[in-house]
Amino acid sequence: MKINTLIFDLDGVIVDTARYHYLAWKKLSDELNLSFNIRDNELLKGVSRRRSFEIILDLNGIKMDEDKIEEYCAKKNAYYLSYINELKEEEILPGVKDFLLEAKSLGYNVVLGSASKNSRFILEKLRIEECFDSVIDGTKVKNAKPDPEIFLKGCEEVNAIPEQCVVFEDSLSGIYAAHNGGMKAVGVANSEVKQYCDYYIDGFANADVRVLMDIIEDKQKRYA
Ligand code: G6P
Ligand code: MG
Repeated sequence: MKINTLIFDLDGVIVDTARYHYLAWKKLSDELNLSFNIRDNELLKGVSRRRSFEIILDLNGIKMDEDKIEEYCAKKNAYYLSYINELKEEEILPGVKDFLLEAKSLGYNVVLGSASKNSRFILEKLRIEECFDSVIDGTKVKNAKPDPEIFLKGCEEVNAIPEQCVVFEDSLSGIYAAHNGGMKAVGVANSEVKQYCDYYIDGFANADVRVLMDIIEDKQKRYA
């Protein structure tokens, strides 16, 4: 089936905010004397804020009251916002904007599908809101990736069906979410996901929309 919709994750795909998420969780963990390192951080990629904190607590074998969880999630977000407040347009990852514009000019629906409740703010900072036909973020869904809700909503918003959609993701939970929704997944800039995605790219600097879609559509035919 012909692909007509490209759905992009934000953190780690369009901009390298993953390191700011890490720094903010690390700061909070250090304050709370919780162990948390860069490898643990892999488990949080693509995962909602709340679920991320639960994972850190689980890793440390700790149970916490609901109101404390809320309080610390808010604190983490304040740290995170203090980092991304400084985000510059130039921090958009190489080749991303050209790829988005090229996809649009070729007639593809271009959709954002991110768990982040800060998505709109980041898109504004990077000045790329107008590149998207639809934005589905953490404020619009109940279920976090690997649940496919984010991507299915994005697909629905542009009147597509899952078989017509390709998801660009850097996280394992996001690759699973795409597959759970019946969509193809292109892994981006995270070699950890290489063996789970349908196709892998290091980034968008050398990526061409037409070439990529030919590869994906050919795979669909071969595995159909
Ligand atoms: C993205 C990131 C996750 C983050 C989530 C929620 O999916 O990959 O690491 O936890 O968004 O982000 P937020 O900005 O709402 O805390
Ligand atoms: Mg991501």
